[in-house]
Amino acid sequence: MKTLAIIARKGGTGKTTLAVHLAAAAHACGYVTLLADTDRQHSAVEWRRMRQISEPAVEAVKPGALFARQQDAARAGVGLLVVDTGPSVEEEVEQAVRCADLCLVVARPNFFDIRAVADSAALAARFHKPVAFVLNQAPHRQQSIEAPVLMEAVAALRALGFPVAPIGLRTRVAYQRSVARGSTAQDLEPSSSAASEITALWSWVEARLHADRPAVRMPTFMAASDSPVPLTF
Ligand SMILES: Nc1ncnc2c1ncn2[C@@H]1O[C@H](COP(=O)(O)OP(=O)(O)OP(=O)(O)O)[C@@H](O)[C@H]1O
Ligand SMILES: [Mg+2]
Repeated sequence: MKTLAIIARKGGTGKTTLAVHLAAAAHACGYVTLLADTDRQHSAVEWRRMRQISEPAVEAVKPGALFARQQDAARAGVGLLVVDTGPSVEEEVEQAVRCADLCLVVARPNFFDIRAVADSAALAARFHKPVAFVLNQAPHRQQSIEAPVLMEAVAALRALGFPVAPIGLRTRVAYQRSVARGSTAQDLEPSSSAASEITALWSWVEARLHADRPAVRMPTFMAASDSPVPLTF
């Protein structure tokens, strides 16, 4: 079983949006997936309550109980445990980091989020856990050119010495609309750009979780004009 922790000290960066979308993408790829909601706000559990479909499984788990839940899940045949975390409370996020095979640190390309990520990455590094940054709510390209604010964010993140996922999530209503219905962009709008970027990001994350396996080639839709964040960084 692999465990993916989604963290960010800053609130509202998109942790839960990413957690539910990646958990659903993993389930669609055949993983028995459990999303552990360790945030006191229980946003992922709320999402599950609205959801018509029972997978991926979502459970509220107290941070202190996460390790035991992880052991039980592995014994029960869960293939992927996604851990959504709350903002701010470092001792609670630490539990998720300790259990993780990979920590995704989510940030929007703005000054405050980028300033806050160093602490989250340092926390993961302290426990010798692989870290990658994921940019969320990236602005759309203007005439095929990435916004300077996005490129500056990428440069600032890279300067911290950890990889930046080559696919980020753009600002898209599809995420807000789907999450508000207990759904995902890939369920509600399977041929949307949002669904494409989630699929591409999941492929990249899956490859990093199984770094011992041969690297996957990025899907060809990455070359489309409204493609997921990068190509150009
Ligand atoms: N790529 C996106 N495009 C548009 N809206 C987004 C995107 N990602 C997240 N949002 C919106 O931003 C808000 C915050 O997202 P979310 O709840 O996932 O953040 P969070 O990091 O889990 O917050 P918290 O720290 O409170 O747990 C939500 O309203 C969500 O719909
Ligand atoms: Mg959240």
